[in-house]
Amino acid sequence: MPTTDADQHAWRPRYHFSPKRHWMNDPNGLVHFDGEYHLYYQYNPQGDDWGNISWGHAVSTDLTHWQELPVAIPATDRLMAFSGSIVVDHANRGGFAPAGATVPALVAFFTGFDPGTKIQSQHLAFSLDRGRTFTPYAGNPVLDIGSTEFRDPKVFWHEPTQRFVMLVVVALEQQVWFYTSRNLVEWTRVSTFGPAGSADGNIWEVPELFALSVDDDPTRKRWVLIVSVNHGSLWGGSGVQYFIGDFDGTRFVADDAQPPTLWADHGRDFYAPIMFANMPDERVLWLGWCSNWEYARELPTQPWRGQQSAPRELSLVTTPRGLRLRQRMAAEMKALVGPEPLFTARENSAHMTAASLAQAGIQGRQLMVRLRALRAGLDSPIGLELLKGAGESVKVGFDPERNSFFINRSCAAPRFKGQSERHDAQRLSNANEIEIEAWIDGSLIEVLADGGSVALTDLVYARPDASCLGLFHGAAATVSLLEVHAMQATLCSPDGLQVEARHL
Ligand code: FRU
Repeated sequence: MPTTDADQHAWRPRYHFSPKRHWMNDPNGLVHFDGEYHLYYQYNPQGDDWGNISWGHAVSTDLTHWQELPVAIPATDRLMAFSGSIVVDHANRGGFAPAGATVPALVAFFTGFDPGTKIQSQHLAFSLDRGRTFTPYAGNPVLDIGSTEFRDPKVFWHEPTQRFVMLVVVALEQQVWFYTSRNLVEWTRVSTFGPAGSADGNIWEVPELFALSVDDDPTRKRWVLIVSVNHGSLWGGSGVQYFIGDFDGTRFVADDAQPPTLWADHGRDFYAPIMFANMPDERVLWLGWCSNWEYARELPTQPWRGQQSAPRELSLVTTPRGLRLRQRMAAEMKALVGPEPLFTARENSAHMTAASLAQAGIQGRQLMVRLRALRAGLDSPIGLELLKGAGESVKVGFDPERNSFFINRSCAAPRFKGQSERHDAQRLSNANEIEIEAWIDGSLIEVLADGGSVALTDLVYARPDASCLGLFHGAAATVSLLEVHAMQATLCSPDGLQVEARHL
């Protein structure tokens, strides 16, 4: 179906990062350094399909306003720069900073993909100019096993063992291989994790590993191993799996001998997330590519294709079903939430609340909506109608029968093959108040429910005139809170138009 300028204008995220033009996939080398957050990403500088893969680059001082910079690690005819990570080499263990330098080197690890032989090997490049440009290490590759499915190095410093650790996937074997090093260039293989969790036949990508506090108690930490899984995820296509366990600097051991399959996000469009390294505080923040390999190359946007999620703060939370990953929006995002709500309702029947919301006539494609409702007595689904237009809307709600949160993104005019779908996520809490926090940005919806114990991220390409907001509900529903905020744009759209969120 042909698209119009109005479609593209409506779909362009205004407070999430998307490149001005061309293709983008995974975030790479997320790092905080010298007052800046760096977002590198898989980028095709020449077109809007996957190819010529380079590390694109954007920086921000506040995690919300991103400035696109020139490509940081360009592809060459003989080598593409696949996904990877960055470490700040404070003690100059790799020796990349000149003697006596006061500024440490940023050392990027990425998979060099040779389009001729298809071999994937691990490469290193260092930056001495605050992450703007990178010099390839003369001894590359630093790790090569002659494989065509060996990629996505995650490197970090492990203080207790005084070593760097590298995780790399052996994708088809569904394994993460662990290596250690004292100098960033010589690596020794020390352990293997996997296969585990999700089904046979899928491939593992983009490993990530960090320690998180449990129930906001900084003295209680568990390690979490993240593996992005392609083909065999929850709803098909790609998704993010995680394991909770322990890591001693050498080996990751999951708490359960047969770990259950846990998904970080229950929507379709959250993939390859990685954390920011070298944070100025104790938080673990990550963001992911909002798309899915099943249809990423068919998405109808132009002149860009690909967007990143907002930064989310991670922790672990005890639920009636066990320990689970919790994702809350990074505190920085609050600065973008309009100070005065466009609409507030408290302690009222859903019926009355829906009527006054309709009366308020709120329209917007950049909104943050918080809904709290009572679970007791709920006889049918309750939730938000987003991007509502003539005869259609995207529904984000809670279904008491299935005890699940869901997004139903079917629209009258589906723009890609996965659009007419509903994605459910089991509720984990038994609290009487259910909570839905929905962050809407053009064509991107991030839902963090029940304080972040459930996450659902989905893309949706609604018609440009579908921008109203409503509440759907059954007979016996009580809304304890409905709050609607306009989100401030951080990106001036290429056509110069600003965000609209207003009362009719
Ligand atoms: C994940 C991934 C990585 C690879 C990169 C290529 O989305 O497939 O495994 O390094 O994308 O762009």
